[in-house]
Amino acid sequence: VASIEVETSKIPEGKSLVVTWLGKPIFIRHKTDAEIEEQKAVDVSSLRDPVPDVDRFPDLRWQVLIGVCTHLGCIPIEGKGDFGGYYCPCHGSHYDFAGRIRKGPAPKNLEVPPHRISGDLLIIG
Ligand code: FES
Repeated sequence: VASIEVETSKIPEGKSLVVTWLGKPIFIRHKTDAEIEEQKAVDVSSLRDPVPDVDRFPDLRWQVLIGVCTHLGCIPIEGKGDFGGYYCPCHGSHYDFAGRIRKGPAPKNLEVPPHRISGDLLIIG
């Protein structure tokens, strides 16, 4: 599997970056402590795709998502929608700030690509 490396120092805390991996947009966000606490405070058991975030992300500080809507594959827009996360304009799917589906036709959370942190690098793939 082709992998790519991103220097973590290029993404300050509270900032996002979009890279491309296997032809797909990858939404990377370096989360703040407040964002992590907000994320942990959500009870995922009531959500449509109730996977705990600790099972989705190896490091909650680094949020890495495939930027492809799980409905029919459009590219969601960061920072839009009713839950402050990602909004897919094609048919109105609202994902929250952790990429969890909250409203609209998408069946699943935004997918998390295989990734890990190694030293100063985020390795995707
Ligand atoms: Fe995103 Fe349909 S493709 S809502």
